[in-house]
Amino acid sequence: MANKIKKIGILTSGGDGPGMNAAIRSAVRYSLHFGLEVAGIMRGYQGLMENDIMPLNHRSVSNIINRGGTILKTARSKEFATTDGVARAADILRRNNIDALVAIGGDGTYKGASCLYENHGIAVVGLPGTIDNDLNGTDQTIGCSTAINTALESIDKIRDTAQSMERIFVVEVMGNRSGYIAMEVALAAGAEDVIIPERSFDYETMYKGIKEGNAKGKISWIIVVAEGAARAQVVAENITKSIGLETRYVVLGHVQRGGTPSGQDRILSTRLGAAAVDLLLNGIYGRAVGVLQDKINVVELKDATRRVHEDMGRRYDLLKILT
Ligand code: F6P
Repeated sequence: MANKIKKIGILTSGGDGPGMNAAIRSAVRYSLHFGLEVAGIMRGYQGLMENDIMPLNHRSVSNIINRGGTILKTARSKEFATTDGVARAADILRRNNIDALVAIGGDGTYKGASCLYENHGIAVVGLPGTIDNDLNGTDQTIGCSTAINTALESIDKIRDTAQSMERIFVVEVMGNRSGYIAMEVALAAGAEDVIIPERSFDYETMYKGIKEGNAKGKISWIIVVAEGAARAQVVAENITKSIGLETRYVVLGHVQRGGTPSGQDRILSTRLGAAAVDLLLNGIYGRAVGVLQDKINVVELKDATRRVHEDMGRRYDLLKILT
């Protein structure tokens, strides 16, 4: 199919993730290389609704590959998430002569992009930008690797004080409805237990294990909790109530979303930014790009929105064997 695209728009939407800037840089410079014009849409779909759009050139994306956050800023737009909102957004894209859109974000961003494509014929490609790693068609989403490293660095520090003061720590990590970050962090930190939404958790068995371990002289525990499974505070209080040992809880929160992107995130973003533009240049729309088994992978946007990791049970068993 002959390529009709002359100008592409780029936006980041939903929760930011380290590596989004590297993706913007790649998509912008790759587009310019092929003679396309590029428009940066500020604050995701919200900025689009407000016509907050500016031209981007080679220099606009200088020195951002190593920066967390997103230079385009991001938001969660309630206004866009309505039938009228999507129609208005499509109209604003047309009025700005934007022929195609690269939407970087998580499942909400993909749902919006899918609507723009299915209902209004906008040429859209989605790029998986979320720390949660909960999208189909890609082994990892942009930001996840950095978020895991950030959480891990904190947990290593928590372990120092946990051991010194002989305490049980319950650490809550992000992930929305996914336990992926929690599971990876727990494995990498050598945590004693992990509570995730993907598998039911037997609290009585955990209490019994802590009691028995303590009787044998074990003095500290790190228990990782995915935010989508339980609240760290409640888990910690219940441990103290059930077995009388001293606990502390830590909610790592938004610290996991910031910081210098890891090498893995920068490379993933750089490959995906270019791959998204390649699709548009080839007249392939309504898709999401990812990297699966080291190769660029393309799936329908509407199939990419929700991923359930299937290996969680085996990873949990491994964690328990190694504890
Ligand atoms: O989707 C990314 C994420 O960081 C989730 O892990 C978390 O549940 C959510 O966003 C937090 O959203 P907000 O920044 O709007 O509080």
